[in-house]
Amino acid sequence: MTWLVTGGAGFIGSAFVRLALREGWTDRIVNLDKLTYAGNLENLAELEGDPRHRFVHGDICDRERVLALLKEERPAAIVHFAAESHVDRSILGPEAFIETNVGGTFSLLEAAREAGVERFLHVSTDEVYGSIPEPDEADESWPLRPSSPYSASKAGSDLLALSYWITFRLPVIVTRASNNYGPYQFPEKLIPLMISNALEDRPLPIYGDGMQVRDWLFVEDHCRAVRAALEKGAPGGIYNIGGSRALPNRRVVEMILDALGKPRSLMTQVADRPGHDRRYAITTARLEQASGWRALVPFEEGLERTIRWYRENTGWVARVKSGEYQRYYERNYANR
Ligand code: NAD
Ligand code: TYD
Repeated sequence: MTWLVTGGAGFIGSAFVRLALREGWTDRIVNLDKLTYAGNLENLAELEGDPRHRFVHGDICDRERVLALLKEERPAAIVHFAAESHVDRSILGPEAFIETNVGGTFSLLEAAREAGVERFLHVSTDEVYGSIPEPDEADESWPLRPSSPYSASKAGSDLLALSYWITFRLPVIVTRASNNYGPYQFPEKLIPLMISNALEDRPLPIYGDGMQVRDWLFVEDHCRAVRAALEKGAPGGIYNIGGSRALPNRRVVEMILDALGKPRSLMTQVADRPGHDRRYAITTARLEQASGWRALVPFEEGLERTIRWYRENTGWVARVKSGEYQRYYERNYANR
């Protein structure tokens, strides 16, 4: 049995590919990735020479290429992670988000329909629900009120994917996960950015008052949930995936500083993100009931594992921070 994974050189996709092959979830994975700034073959180093993994360098927007690959490989399922994934970048330049997240998902869906693929799992985010007022928690029927070009592009692609089930009976499943963290995350997102800046004794930029709340999910728990939804989910089904660990950003950053023995004075308040969602909160009961999945890694343990990984992999961090990263950092943080 072969699965086609898209975006499998990125943070979550590569964790999924590594875990799936390590634990034998499937016989073989074909991994289609464009290798944007966020894609990194170093994340797949442990699979070098492994005949169960085929890496294909390509763009999901290239429908002919995707269709040819589907006809050649006849995968039993598509697990679609590929996306532009960072909110701040979507504010600086939304175009790539529309092209890849909406256009790329459309191209994949069309190719999957033509090739008769029997399972299509679309990986989405709880950000499609927008900011959730206390004390509510969004279930899967909560209205979609995305705030950023990133979350709007994900909401658009969710609805498009679901329409392919309703209209064409392409067996689509949509998962909506909360904020992930863990090893190999690109240091533009909160946790790896704060760890890597703190390790270099650089300021830690806190947007606004830092009291925005996110629900943290260890990346391996997310990958196991995606597998559970793929195998136990109903076609046309939507499944929230949460970590059940809501924390304000300031608290997360304090925990990182304390673990590293760095002073709290490194925290620096900067101008808030435009359209910044105040709080995310979801219920995960549907996936738990359908599959028995639970988030297993407590935040303290996941954070410790993550911090250890960044301390031990300074070469990886230095390489991803060279070049394009510096320009992005300047653009996003220089005038805040
Ligand atoms: P990432 O930015 O680390 O990786 C994205 C990957 O997609 C990269 O390898 C990149 O090269 C590839 N890619 C981008 N455009 C492509 C294209 N046109 N064709 C082929 N490949 C392309 O992202 P991530 O954090 O691993 O997120 C993966 C998925 O999970 C995304 O769909 C994201 O919306 C979703 N998600 C992420 C989080 C999170 O906290 N990071 C939470 C919920 C959902
Ligand atoms: P992020 O990791 O970008 O994820 P998302 O915006 O998709 O939830 O940000 C997580 C939270 O951390 C969010 O409330 C914004 C905040 N944040 C900062 O305060 N400073 C930063 O430099 C970054 C990147 C994020």
